Amino acid sequence: MFSQMPQNSLVLRARQLLTMQADTDALLQAPPAHDLDALRQRDARICGLIEDGAVHIQGPNLRFVGAWSDLDPKIKSRSTVVEVGCVTPGWVDCHTHSVFAGSRHMEFTQRNLGAQYLDILNAGGGIHSTVNAVRRSGRRALAATLIGRCFEATRLGVTTLEVKSGYGLTTDEEIKQLRAVAEAAPEVLMELHPTFLGAHVVPRKYADRRDDYVQMVIQEMIPKVAERGLARYCDVFCDTGAFTAAEAEAILRAGIDHGLIPRIHADELSHAGAAEVAAAVGAASADHLEYVSPEAIAAMAKANVVAVLLPMVNLFLKLPQHAPARDLIAAGVDVALSTDFNPGTGMTQDLGLIMTLACTHYGMTPAEALLAITRNAARALRLDDRGVLAKGKRADLTILDVEDYWEIPYFPGRRPVAGVVWGGDVAYWTSAQELDDNA
Ligand code: NIG
Ligand code: FE
Repeated sequence: MFSQMPQNSLVLRARQLLTMQADTDALLQAPPAHDLDALRQRDARICGLIEDGAVHIQGPNLRFVGAWSDLDPKIKSRSTVVEVGCVTPGWVDCHTHSVFAGSRHMEFTQRNLGAQYLDILNAGGGIHSTVNAVRRSGRRALAATLIGRCFEATRLGVTTLEVKSGYGLTTDEEIKQLRAVAEAAPEVLMELHPTFLGAHVVPRKYADRRDDYVQMVIQEMIPKVAERGLARYCDVFCDTGAFTAAEAEAILRAGIDHGLIPRIHADELSHAGAAEVAAAVGAASADHLEYVSPEAIAAMAKANVVAVLLPMVNLFLKLPQHAPARDLIAAGVDVALSTDFNPGTGMTQDLGLIMTLACTHYGMTPAEALLAITRNAARALRLDDRGVLAKGKRADLTILDVEDYWEIPYFPGRRPVAGVVWGGDVAYWTSAQELDDNA
């Protein structure tokens, strides 16, 4: 029987295999900062760490996940076996605005010298300037740029990418952005999951009649986007300068009526009551959360809303207030992390850097940060076939050239990703690791 095993049977033997089958009790304990052994043990339980582990890949799903010593010797002898450093589930970037045109390096420098994000927005820059650039771009150009960004994300370890619209702000322009995502999807080595974000800001044309815009989102954009199958999620930017909690709730409920899963940009610049809306409508996630209240944290825990934290925004906007990651974790909320890749508030695609910022800004441990870009990011997208390594789950893997996973956030910019497997196929491999066939 084994002599017929196809040649593309691959086994990765990992110094550290991080299954991310997290032990909830460990997460609910506070990390013991001064007891290194206890801290390492707590992190190992969060990562589902197996030292000298193995995964067997043949086809799109995982065949075996466990200790190298438990893998059938016949499979070892009939497969390509590659020894690697760390193996984690494929990284999931669950909140991005990756389909955009133009650049906002000018406002980055203005902000660094004291200009405020909302002042630039209200003067017609910020999101409005990206809207102008997107409206000037053709769909194919947007798709081509997105494809390039996806290849870069593959090299950075990403196997699943969420992409939002929100820089069109008319029915046709929002649909153009989502069509660009659909056009890019078959060309890239990752899964793309599109989100409709027509309620990103009120377009300047509607400044004096914002309710007309909200009604257009509800009555025209959502039905058309849903009918064409162009998005899986509906998102709203609920904050000062954007949409109110009441407007956000009405939009998200309209999305639900059309089969779109609600998510929300919540309480980034002020306490706008957005996390409360997320809990009330049963959103998959509430994202940002710099100004979330303790009551809203409790409501999110009860309603199973994932918290998606975006620490690059703190760096880019010099936001003094950090999302209360430790309080969220202690309350039993699943905390995910994402790049928020966009030209205004987070010009990065690097989840490794995001892990660093989560450790330094939020006091998260390396295991918590890894859980946040794997299992919990998949939960934020309601994708239960990935995010953890177990037999039968998707064969999406990120392979890291490190001795120990605590090195990943420790050395930002080093690019530790040595390989990526997506749906059982090798999507990226560095020459440092040989893929010789010994079958
Ligand atoms: O997630 N907060 C709202 N939306 C984006 C920023 C978009 C932009 O500035 O272009 C965000 O930070
Ligand atoms: Fe965002």
